[in-house]
Amino acid sequence: MTSPPSPTPPESVIRPRIRPRRLRRTAPLRRLVAETRLSAADLVLPLFVKEGVSAPVPVGSMPGVLQHTRDSLRKAAREAVEAGVGGLMLFAVPATKDPIGRAATDPDGILNVAVADLVAEVGDATIVMADLCLDEFTDHGHCGVLTDDGHVDNDATLDHYARMAVALAEAGAHMVGPSGMMDGQVAAIRAALDAAGHTDVSILAYAAKYASAFYGPFREAVDSSLTGDRKTYQMDPANTAEALREIRLDVAEGADIVMVKPAMAYLDVVRRAAETVEVPVAAYQVSGEYAMIEAAAANGWIERDRAVTETLTCIRRAGASIVLTYWATEVARRLP
Ligand code: PBG
Repeated sequence: MTSPPSPTPPESVIRPRIRPRRLRRTAPLRRLVAETRLSAADLVLPLFVKEGVSAPVPVGSMPGVLQHTRDSLRKAAREAVEAGVGGLMLFAVPATKDPIGRAATDPDGILNVAVADLVAEVGDATIVMADLCLDEFTDHGHCGVLTDDGHVDNDATLDHYARMAVALAEAGAHMVGPSGMMDGQVAAIRAALDAAGHTDVSILAYAAKYASAFYGPFREAVDSSLTGDRKTYQMDPANTAEALREIRLDVAEGADIVMVKPAMAYLDVVRRAAETVEVPVAAYQVSGEYAMIEAAAANGWIERDRAVTETLTCIRRAGASIVLTYWATEVARRLP
């Protein structure tokens, strides 16, 4: 059967003279005109180390993520650096937790010794950062110490953060990441670091950190025993003006980098942050964002690698110059 002759278009149809599709025609053209580029140097890999285990423990809700031993941590750090990642953000799970999170400020505590391990292993080739918060260390799972009636005590917590910052700096951390959302935490940490002579240690402030359901899998990754929520200190997902206020405060208190967290559902906040402050803006693609994509991909519902690259590109496009992602090493390996 021959196909019918194509109809002659009526004279009145206007042919486009300007054709945006011209620049999408081939892969080299698309590459040439891309407005946003991902590079390994922009990516920071969060890592977990667990005290007292003889082998790495898989985090069930984060396929591919491990609670490392001190040895396997060094190996993962080495691989990340060989792939070119820009930094490492360390979290630690101590063998014992208590009401004030003693292990956080103890120089022999797991976080501090593991920071020293990382600095020894890769400290000249990447930025070694540590999450500065008490929640991995407290038996109640809150990010600070509690008052007698069970509330998170802002100002008492600042004293613990200040000591933790100094302990991390003495262990060799290049950068600390206060993530507890206590008022005045950046100022307290900056003052403590400076007083101890650590003026070169920088602060990546989790400035606009929301009380998010997307931290679910992280609770498993740090063996958290939190009951309840963090809504009296982390932000309400409904707010952006408040995020800008937090970000401005952190910059005024001395933050070198400010972070928005989570990332994907908060790209408007990332954009406004990037337009508001001159310091670099980071975004944290959190555990739940990772788990969602891994779970959908495991079911064959989305193309995993494409989805991962797309989300990271879009977080960069929104204005984040630095992205924390559990896929950092893998993605860094496949970047040009
Ligand atoms: C607090 C902290 C959390 C995360 C990073 N730092 C947990 C929380 O605030 O509840 C979450 C990271 C993630 O979900 O990937 N130390």
